[in-house]
Amino acid sequence: MTHSKAHKDMGLFITFEGGEGSGKSTQIKLLKEYICSLIPDIEIVLTREPGGTEVAELIRDILVNGASDKLSPRAEALLMIASRAEHIDLVILPALGRGAIVLCDRFKDSSVVYQGLANNISKEEIDKIHEFALKRCEPDLTILLDIPSETGIKRALDRNESDQRFEQKGDAFHQRIREGYLKLAAIYPERIKVINASQTVRSISDEIQQLIKPMLIDRTHK
Ligand code: TYD
Repeated sequence: MTHSKAHKDMGLFITFEGGEGSGKSTQIKLLKEYICSLIPDIEIVLTREPGGTEVAELIRDILVNGASDKLSPRAEALLMIASRAEHIDLVILPALGRGAIVLCDRFKDSSVVYQGLANNISKEEIDKIHEFALKRCEPDLTILLDIPSETGIKRALDRNESDQRFEQKGDAFHQRIREGYLKLAAIYPERIKVINASQTVRSISDEIQQLIKPMLIDRTHK
């Protein structure tokens, strides 16, 4: 955890990662409710990537809904991380400075896994770009919702049948995304906690709460 100490004492930065249909947004909402029930007066910022600021949402439009297949692989990685730099400067660091808890749907690990795989850019190269863009803003904790890719794709399609993106990329791609995440979790076992996302919504949220609870108690007793 290289999150700078001043921020660490004040805020808490938690990121959620996982493949398509892993249930991140449901779990983020449930975690917010849980934290509010424990510490009603705490500020909680829910945000997502790519996006989270006005300009970052415009970049998201290009990357997620627009012509990302026309972008060169390096340009795609740089745009993704440019939007992250903006998000950090305008949203995440100010919120942590105010003592807020920031819950972010995807962050740097998505770039390592997705851009690494889809665009064949090495982890070392992505790490180098992050070194410049992140200003040492690291998550205190990353929840990786791990699910077999077939189950995830099925869930994502059930949620939005008109969305063809998941099928277009194919099973093998989603399988490699899953493996990429698990490899990252093995490199950073302190920060990235893997949760079996094939369980019920309730069991998953219970596990997440068990992970977060000690961090919150730490804060309330400071
Ligand atoms: P989104 O519809 O938000 O998907 P999900 O619900 O799975 O988060 O689209 C985000 C897409 O952007 C997703 O396919 C992953 C991709 N992505 C990257 O390729 N690199 C990144 O750094 C980030 C943050 C997202």
